Amino acid sequence: MNYKGKMLQDNALKGQTIVVTGGGSGLGKAMTRYFLELGANVAITSRNLEKLQGTAKELETETGGICLPLQCDVRHYDQVEAMLKNTLDKFGKVDGLLNNAAGNFISPTERLSANAFDTIIDIVLKGTKNCTLAFGKHWIDTKQEQSVILNIVTTYAWTGSAYVVPSATAKAGVLAMTRSLAVEWAKYGIRSNAIAPGPFPTKGAWDRLLPGDLKEKFDMSKKVPLQRVGDHQELANLAAYLISDFSAYVNGEVITIDGGEWLKGAGQFNLLDQIPEQMWDMLEQMIRAKKSK
Ligand code: HXC
Ligand code: NAP
Repeated sequence: MNYKGKMLQDNALKGQTIVVTGGGSGLGKAMTRYFLELGANVAITSRNLEKLQGTAKELETETGGICLPLQCDVRHYDQVEAMLKNTLDKFGKVDGLLNNAAGNFISPTERLSANAFDTIIDIVLKGTKNCTLAFGKHWIDTKQEQSVILNIVTTYAWTGSAYVVPSATAKAGVLAMTRSLAVEWAKYGIRSNAIAPGPFPTKGAWDRLLPGDLKEKFDMSKKVPLQRVGDHQELANLAAYLISDFSAYVNGEVITIDGGEWLKGAGQFNLLDQIPEQMWDMLEQMIRAKKSK
């Protein structure tokens, strides 16, 4: 099965400019690479300019595209406005915003300081709000015909999750923002969608969510019905589709890409897949025997 292949046709994003927050590492970098391969101009932003410059250079060499590194802490609205201005100065317009930047770490909630909780909310929810508001105002003021917002959430945006409560709280807010603006801003030609990835190994996430030997103790692939983690290109394919005109009628949607992981945790009898095949004859007989009495 070729799930690592590239999905869209050549030049599918030709002439488009996309901003990827947190584009210097992990999944943001993988999505940026594919957008560049498909012909887009991409501005990548985060706090660490040196890292962004390295990524931009690497991806430009690899793809032949144009990648602009811009320092911007999404927690600060003035920095977001400056990032938007720099993108416009370089490329003349911007068509897509990918809200991918995030902060997260595991912790019992009662151990968190107020500032620790705020830090995650500020990066994930307030950061997404800052970028969405600045870009949305720009698109509406300039009467741009078509534009698109894509937010990266998680499946615990709707299930919640213990030990990552600030992240779950913030991602739930981002999902609500996605669905709300899909309706409110459709009249301005702005589509809003989200992707909820399951486990896709990255250094940023794994260092903070599975430190030390937790990686071995909690093998994420075992939680997934398809029994594997995600490949970065699979996510990049979905993101490129949702950014591209091919998804022009998709609006207000959250697409889960997790191999069935969250549903496995949800279904009450899903644990029965641990029952060996040969036991089912006996179990069936026991059930039928009760019925006949
Ligand atoms: C408890 C902690 C902590 C920890 C930090 N803090 N780490 N508290 N346990 N492990 C507290 C600090 O003491 C401080 O509170 C407050 O949090 C802010 O910490 P700083 O280090 O000052 O913040 P900052 O430098 O802004 O760094 C933010 C960060 C860091 C979130 C803490 O980890 C970071 O930069 N992360 C960015 C990348 C990232 O997180 N990637 C993973 C995304 S994965 P006090 O009170 O002491 O001042 C993801 C996946 C979801 O989202 C789904 C997976 C399946
Ligand atoms: P990652 O590499 O740590 O990505 C997070 C990015 O956010 C980093 O590039 C970081 O760059 C940037 N960032 C953090 N704080 C910022 C701030 N204040 N302002 C601007 N940028 C900031 O981790 P990842 O796994 O690729 O995560 C990417 C996205 O996928 C996140 O939204 C995450 O919640 C989501 N996700 C990941 C998984 C997974 O399994 N990996 C699963 C579900 C959802 P700097 O440090 O340079 O600022």
